[in-house]
Amino acid sequence: MTEVSRKLEPGRLVIASHNKGKIREIAALLGPHGIEPVSAADLDLPEPEETGTSFIDNADLKARAACDLSGMVALADDSGLCVEALGNRPGIFSARWALNGNSHVPPEDEPGHVEGDRDFMRAMQRVHDEIQALGPEAAENLNAHFVCALAVVWPDGHSEWFEGRVDGTLVWPPRGTNGFGYDPMFVPAGHDQTFGEMDPDAKHRISHRADAFRKLVEALF
Ligand code: IMP
Repeated sequence: MTEVSRKLEPGRLVIASHNKGKIREIAALLGPHGIEPVSAADLDLPEPEETGTSFIDNADLKARAACDLSGMVALADDSGLCVEALGNRPGIFSARWALNGNSHVPPEDEPGHVEGDRDFMRAMQRVHDEIQALGPEAAENLNAHFVCALAVVWPDGHSEWFEGRVDGTLVWPPRGTNGFGYDPMFVPAGHDQTFGEMDPDAKHRISHRADAFRKLVEALF
């Protein structure tokens, strides 16, 4: 969104996420602007099903559900990896590609660790296999990008949306044990290391999430 008419006033804001890491990160980013984040888990809010067809749709529906149930301004995010050769899949299905059928339980030091019922080595292997299955010419296109969408919804129904992005290329095999998700197979443009090998602070400066939050802070404060 480029035209933003609404500002965020200091006070309580629900973060529509049950992920403690995400909430800590968001609290650190918004705290200096007088925002007191409250997590959806603290309020016992249920997690809605992500039925949207875009990152923005899913962020908006999560924020709207939290706002409706709490009566407070709510913020939600949705993110994922888009692979050019695969028509931008897995995209909004990035987390779902890692759903663990328990067929592969990697050791802890293997890149693409298990997060709850999600196995990201399995998800990265699927990305690699689907690219290879396209044949040698198509498989040369290893361009990919991460997207992070943010939605802020007010109790009167008004919403503001922001989208951040980081471009890069995929490598195989995955490298590095930092980060999470698809980090070990993604090299951001202009760098040699994967997000899984990079110092986490360096990743956080250039990530899709940083880009989206920069846009949010610029527009809403
Ligand atoms: P969300 O919690 O619904 O936004 O799920 C996003 C999914 O996209 C995560 O589970 C990861 O698979 C992937 N993803 C999003 N951001 C990143 C990132 O910074 N690094 C690696 N994977 C990511």
